[in-house]
Amino acid sequence: MLHELTIESHSVGDTHKLARHLLKQVPGPMVLALHGDLGSGKTCFVQGLAAALGIDRPVTSPTFTLVHEYQGTRPLIHVDLYRLRDSLDALMLGMEEYFDSNGITAVEWADRAEDLFPAGAIHLFFETLPGAHSRRITLRSPMPLKG
Ligand SMILES: Nc1ncnc2c1ncn2[C@@H]1O[C@H](COP(=O)(O)OP(=O)(O)O)[C@@H](O)[C@H]1O
Ligand SMILES: [Mg+2]
Repeated sequence: MLHELTIESHSVGDTHKLARHLLKQVPGPMVLALHGDLGSGKTCFVQGLAAALGIDRPVTSPTFTLVHEYQGTRPLIHVDLYRLRDSLDALMLGMEEYFDSNGITAVEWADRAEDLFPAGAIHLFFETLPGAHSRRITLRSPMPLKG
C-alpha cells in the first residue's frame, strides 16, 4: 500500500523544511525520486537536504555531470537525469549502483528511469502553483509518513 501526503510550500524555506522533516522521519538509507517540471523546486529541495545534513558546499543541479556526491552527517548523492532519454540510458550509466548507497540518494527527472527505482523509494511530485513562490509537493511512500 502506498501512502500519500500533499503539502503546499509558499517559500524556499517551506521546501527546505519539508526536506528536514523527511530526514528526521527516515533515519536509514533513502532513495528519493523527484518529479516535476523545470523550476518546480526539485533542486531547491535537494539544497534543503544538504543544509540539513550540514553540507556547506554549494549544491547545484548536476545536469552535465549527472551525479554529485557530498559528505554530510549522512552521504548525499544527487543525480539529475534531465539529459537522458530513458531507463536504458540510465542503466548504461550504472544508475542502480547509486540506489545501494547507505545515505540519501535524490534523483531529479526520475520519470526518465521510472522502472529502475527500488520499491522502497519515496516519490515526490513538484508542481508550480499560481503565484511566484507557491508549489504543491506530493509525497508517495511505501511507508507511512507524518505531515
Ligand atoms: N516554494 C518554493 N519552493 C521551491 N522553490 C521555490 C519556491 N518558491 C520559489 N522558488 C524558486 O523556484 C526555483 C526552483 O528552481 P529549482 O529548484 O532549480 O527547480 P528544478 O530543479 O525543479 O528545475 C528557485 O529559483 C527557487 O528559488
Ligand atoms: Mg533541478
